[in-house]
Amino acid sequence: MSDRPVIAVLVSGSGSNLQAIIDASERGEIPGRVGLVLSNKADAYGLARAGKHGIPTAVVDHKEFHSREAFDAKLVEVIRASGAVLVCLAGFMRVVTPVFLRAFPHRILNIHPALLPSFPGTHGPAQALRYGVRFSGCTVHFLDEGVDTGPIVVQAVVPVHEDDTEETLAARILKEEHRIYPMAIRLFLEGRLTVQGRKVTTKGAGKIPDFSRRNPDA
Ligand code: GAR
Repeated sequence: MSDRPVIAVLVSGSGSNLQAIIDASERGEIPGRVGLVLSNKADAYGLARAGKHGIPTAVVDHKEFHSREAFDAKLVEVIRASGAVLVCLAGFMRVVTPVFLRAFPHRILNIHPALLPSFPGTHGPAQALRYGVRFSGCTVHFLDEGVDTGPIVVQAVVPVHEDDTEETLAARILKEEHRIYPMAIRLFLEGRLTVQGRKVTTKGAGKIPDFSRRNPDA
């Protein structure tokens, strides 16, 4: 168990994606274990989830640092001490600087509740509803220096219903997030991802059947 590669997960809130990753790891679906949960908020529920599974936690409060770079340098120090080979942002609501990115090149994943490059930043589901798209979804991508702009690893699509609220759409998307984040982590830890420029290729991936969907179904 303890010789499995270590994943560090960074959270700011509920941590339901963290839970999906822990559960997948405990079921043996990903060849790694969560060895650190780090939050910028002491009251993030994700820390309690980690505690229930005996996973070490740390809090690094961004308000205690004079600059983003100083905050990121502390994050890097704590993550390095955990021995993590992969860093997963899971509802971590801070924009990181090159200090953080350069410490873990092509080793940081993020999940975003929209089909990037549409609707980056905060409130992805609300942005999709306001825009009036018929489909939205979620994206796991490698972090780069932009906001939600890095190379895309996995996406999943969900329909937007005409009576959706931000909450109902976000919940439908979140269910898919819980599926694709562990999947992306598995692919990474199995060494099956290659990044070339913007493009990620996946060794041994099956072909997705062509499909045609429409929404509304009228
Ligand atoms: C998730 O929907 C995640 O995609 C989103 O925050 C939520 C965290 O939920 N992240 C962003 O919007 C990042 N831009 P969780 O704490 O229950 O995993």
